[in-house]
Amino acid sequence: MIIEKIKLTNFRNYKSLALSFEKGINIFYGSNGSGKTNLAEAIYFLSLTKSFRTSNDLDLINKESNEFAIINSYIEKGRNFKKIDIYVSKNGKKISVDDKNINKISLLSQEVNVIYFLPRDVNLFKESPKVRRNFFNIALSKQYSEYLNLLNDYEKVLKMRNDVLKEEKPNLTLLDVYVDQLISYSIKIYQYRKEYFDKLNIFLPEIYKKISLKKSSIKLVYLPFIDDFKNFKDIAKKKYKEALENDLKMKRTTIGVHLEDFFILLDGKNITLYGSQGENRMAVLSLKLVPYFLINEKENKPIVILDDVLSELDENNKMNLLNFLKAFEQVFITSTNKIFKENITNYLVLNNNVSKEESYEGR
Ligand SMILES: Nc1ncnc2c1ncn2[C@@H]1O[C@H](COP(=O)(O)OP(=O)(O)OP(=O)(O)O)[C@@H](O)[C@H]1O
Ligand SMILES: [Mg+2]
Repeated sequence: MIIEKIKLTNFRNYKSLALSFEKGINIFYGSNGSGKTNLAEAIYFLSLTKSFRTSNDLDLINKESNEFAIINSYIEKGRNFKKIDIYVSKNGKKISVDDKNINKISLLSQEVNVIYFLPRDVNLFKESPKVRRNFFNIALSKQYSEYLNLLNDYEKVLKMRNDVLKEEKPNLTLLDVYVDQLISYSIKIYQYRKEYFDKLNIFLPEIYKKISLKKSSIKLVYLPFIDDFKNFKDIAKKKYKEALENDLKMKRTTIGVHLEDFFILLDGKNITLYGSQGENRMAVLSLKLVPYFLINEKENKPIVILDDVLSELDENNKMNLLNFLKAFEQVFITSTNKIFKENITNYLVLNNNVSKEESYEGR
């Protein structure tokens, strides 16, 4: 899919901005604070209806206008066009697809699917496990439509069990009933995760090799709660029994699929402990690009947003990455410098405005 056009009204530093985008690589370049990330944020918002840097939508509204912000867009999906509009105000936000209001936000990420890499993502493997779980839960929800419901069901039961554990005299029978429910959801969650990690491990080494031009071996290691599909139920029952004393003491469920994690082995070494900043960047970027290759239909290929991805890369790696991305349907990259390369469209971001430049023909 590609974004054909976008119009921003009172969005961040843009009072009124209309832009048409190209297939392939679009570069937003300009000095610090000029509004490049704000543009990337608007595109991201189209898919996820939330920002990557604020949880308060009102921050998106231009400070001087103070009333509302609007994003209008046209998305091309093969032969189909979709009009997507978002209106943000103090009274909440309204989202419409082809002029019909939609209430379920998850529906929008099907209309506009994005993959993004933000500066903070470099630290994915240095952050707490919760950040990584959040990462794979989002990725899995996009890959398997049932997954999010399954996870929500699991979390509901988990919360009920934790509430019982917090009571003065927890009802042990009830705790057991919840354990059985948790186990039945866990088996399915484990299956999805295992299958997904196996898929990631097929594509990750190829992508890493292409963008880093190194022959390093790279492997994702999934750390499941229980790694035995056949005997999952029995093993889980035993584990929950053993953990009960600790659960009662801690007043929460201390084991289970809600505590799973994963890490990366780069040339056999844990990247968290041994990886350089550049290696972390390349590894996380490769990982984030995998979903692009999990979707076969051209019209459904995600749009890629890369904020500040080039800044720490040396010239060779930069060119490698750009060459690799050339084959993608549509990519948006923010950069402090213009990029002179064929088939790349540059947009100068300056004075709260954006000007599209003629694409460079390799002269
Ligand atoms: N709601 C808002 N209304 C008006 N201006 C805003 C609003 N929110 C942010 N800004 C302005 O947008 C600018 C930051 O833009 P942005 O983060 O996109 O910069 P950038 O070009 O990505 O910079 P860098 O190269 O440093 O990453 C700041 O000057 C900030 O004051
Ligand atoms: Mg920025």
